Amino acid sequence: MKATDILKSDHQTILDLLNRLKALKQRNAILLQRIYDNLKVHKECETRIFYPALDGIEHDEVQTSIEEHQEIDDVLEELMAIRIQKGMAVFMEVLDTLDQKVRAHFQEEEERLLPAAEEGIAEKLDDLGAQIEQLKIDLRTSQYGMAA
Ligand SMILES: [Fe+2]
Ligand SMILES: [Fe+2]
Repeated sequence: MKATDILKSDHQTILDLLNRLKALKQRNAILLQRIYDNLKVHKECETRIFYPALDGIEHDEVQTSIEEHQEIDDVLEELMAIRIQKGMAVFMEVLDTLDQKVRAHFQEEEERLLPAAEEGIAEKLDDLGAQIEQLKIDLRTSQYGMAA
């Protein structure tokens, strides 16, 4: 599969999980862990394979994307650390921040970086896709446990 199609499908999976957790209006450890795992794996695929392949043609956008992933990671860690005693309002507030940052980031990628890749490195997308699929297997059998 082309790298751009894999990344787009990752975005949809993550947005679906975020929507499900928001709709529940309560802390759900299983959904939260799936969001965490999927976001971490997606970030590794992009920062190790996809962004470096695009750095030559979209340098500034790639740098911005890397910074945004750092921000997303920070909010994600904050969300994971919130215990139920703190109250649902705090949890929902941080979840909302995460949701907004993730949504904005994915939208920028789909409007700018993915089309730039389709145009500028079209002949490499199948190979990059194979590398991404292999990395996912490696990550999911190592530190990130099960993510689906
Ligand atoms: Fe990204
Ligand atoms: Fe992405």
